[in-house]
Amino acid sequence: MKIALLGSTGMLGSKALEVFKQSGHEILTPLRSDLDLSNKDQIENYFKNNSFEVLVNCTGYTQVDACEDKEKAPMAWNVNGTAVGVLARCCKSTGRVLVHFSTDYVFDGTKSEPYQETDKTKPVNVYGQTKLEGEKLLQAANPFYYLIRTSWVFGPNGPNFVKTIAGLLKTKPQIEVVTDQIGGPTYTGDLAGFALELLGRKAEAGLYHFANDGYTSWNGFAQEIKVLTGSTCEVAPTLSEKFVRPAKRPANSRFDLSKASHAAGHRPRPWQESLKDYLTKELK
Ligand SMILES: NC(=O)c1ccc[n+]([C@@H]2O[C@H](COP(=O)([O-])OP(=O)(O)OC[C@H]3O[C@@H](n4cnc5c(N)ncnc54)[C@H](OP(=O)(O)O)[C@@H]3O)[C@@H](O)[C@H]2O)c1
Repeated sequence: MKIALLGSTGMLGSKALEVFKQSGHEILTPLRSDLDLSNKDQIENYFKNNSFEVLVNCTGYTQVDACEDKEKAPMAWNVNGTAVGVLARCCKSTGRVLVHFSTDYVFDGTKSEPYQETDKTKPVNVYGQTKLEGEKLLQAANPFYYLIRTSWVFGPNGPNFVKTIAGLLKTKPQIEVVTDQIGGPTYTGDLAGFALELLGRKAEAGLYHFANDGYTSWNGFAQEIKVLTGSTCEVAPTLSEKFVRPAKRPANSRFDLSKASHAAGHRPRPWQESLKDYLTKELK
């Protein structure tokens, strides 16, 4: 397949580039300097002037707390919202397949069970609102699409929870991590692999929830990093109300993975297995 990959400098995009290349696909990697998502003409010209079958959009304005800042929010609305609509309309009018990524933050986290693709959305922060806007614009344009919601992403080339905690565990005698937010960690390599599986198996177009198998709290996630790195630092429990940040986070971010598992033909790997691989092979 000939794939145009947007956001190849980011955490997910850089791993997607590696995984797609390893699978023998031909990849175009326009950078922000070639295709700035805030420039509609640049997007349309890119579609006119380049030959590819699939557009994989790994871009995003991903600084969740910064989205609450009135000066930075317009950029988030543009990259996560408006631009996704433009990409989707271009895919529709030129017959390209669109793969796009969204987030667990489209939900308010009050459900006690894992979230299914059919559950009602209700973001509790601006980032989630901008991502939901992108989803809606994409679905309204209605190209052939795979819209993949994911959660708690980690991998090389980007700040992420695992990297932060692994660093703190090396230098601090004790850290406090919240126990009252639960979700599914997701390794970028497995997420990129899932996108390829959907494309390769010609799965039904639509919305999919993807994370690694299993779930935990942020505290449980940190405990596992501690075990795998052999740290002696204490990972103490705390609550979200004691750890106030500009953007509110949903308490429950768990996804029901049935639809994704059926489409891929297997369950995703357990998150502990992916975490171990990342820690031992990539985050040395
Ligand atoms: N990280 C998570 O925990 C998480 C969780 C759920 C969902 N997601 C979703 O997964 C996707 C990938 O996230 P990520 O963490 O890999 O993101 P990331 O590391 O922050 O990378 C973002 C990418 O978007 C590009 N970009 C931003 N603004 C742009 C613009 N105006 N024009 C062109 N390119 C632009 C960046 O390019 P530059 O290098 O030029 O800045 C970078 O390549 C996003 O859709 C995100 O919402 C992430």
